[in-house]
Amino acid sequence: MGGAGEMNATGNIPELIVNGKRLDGRAFDEMRPIKIVAGGLKNAAGSAYIEWGNNKILAAVYGPKEALPKHTQDPEKAVIKCRYSMAPFSSLEEHGRSGPNRRAIEISKVTREVFENVIIREDFPGSEIDIYVEVLQSDGGTRAAGITTAAVALATSGIPMTDLPYAVSVGKTGEHLILDLNKAEDNYSDADMPVAIGPRNDSILLLQMDGTLTKEEVMRGMSMIKKAGQTITKLQKEALRAPYESIMDRYK
Ligand code: CDP
Repeated sequence: MGGAGEMNATGNIPELIVNGKRLDGRAFDEMRPIKIVAGGLKNAAGSAYIEWGNNKILAAVYGPKEALPKHTQDPEKAVIKCRYSMAPFSSLEEHGRSGPNRRAIEISKVTREVFENVIIREDFPGSEIDIYVEVLQSDGGTRAAGITTAAVALATSGIPMTDLPYAVSVGKTGEHLILDLNKAEDNYSDADMPVAIGPRNDSILLLQMDGTLTKEEVMRGMSMIKKAGQTITKLQKEALRAPYESIMDRYK
C-alpha cells in the first residue's frame, strides 16, 4: 500500500474531496466501473481478465499437477502457489529490473492465503495449483482486483472451491470513508483497508490496513465493502455465465 497520507513531490497533500465529490467525480461509496471476462488463455487451466477503473489485470491458473520440487508437496492436500506481478509498463513508477520486489512478494502471499481458504485442497493431495496475477496497467487497488479476477479464473478451471471470493478496499480521507481507492487516493488518503470476502457467509479472507481507522470506521467500512460485494459477485457470476449464454440462446 502506497503510504497513506504521504506528501507529493512538492510537499503538498492534494485535496482528494472537492465540493463533496472525489477527484474522478465519484460519490464516497461509489466503485470504479468493473468489466470482467472469463477465460481467454488457451493453455491455462483457467483464466480471467478484468478492467477495474484504470487497472487491467489478467489472472491464470495452472494445475492441479504434481507439486515440484517434491519437498513442496503435502501428502494430504494441494499446495497453492501464487505469483502477483506488475508488468514493467504497468505504471509510471520505477520497477525493479527483474524478479519480484518485497511488495509483490507480500501481495502474492496474501492472495495465496485467500485461495488456500476456499479451494478444496484435500481433493488433490500431493499436487500444486498455480495462480498467476499479471498487472498490465495499474491505478490503485490491484491486489483487490487481482483476487477478484483470480477467483473467476479458478472457477473457469473447474477446481472446486467453497466460495467465490471478491475483494475491494475502503479508505479514509479527512472525515470521509471512501470506497475503492484509486492510486491518488491510495497515496494521499489517511487510511486504506483492502479486504477480501467469501460472500457465502461473509468470511473475511484478507484484511490489511495502512493508516488508522477507529473501530466504528472499520465497521462502517466493512458494510460499504459488503454492499459493493453484491455488485462485484454479480459481475463475477455474469462473466462466468457469459460464454454459455450464446449456447443457451440456441435452445430458447
Ligand atoms: O495496487 P494496490 O493498491 O493493491 O497496492 P499498493 O501497494 O497500495 O499500490 C497502490 C498503487 O500504486 C498501485 O496500484 C500502483 O498503481 C502504484 N504502484 C506502482 O505503480 N508501482 C509500485 N512499485 C507500487 C505501487
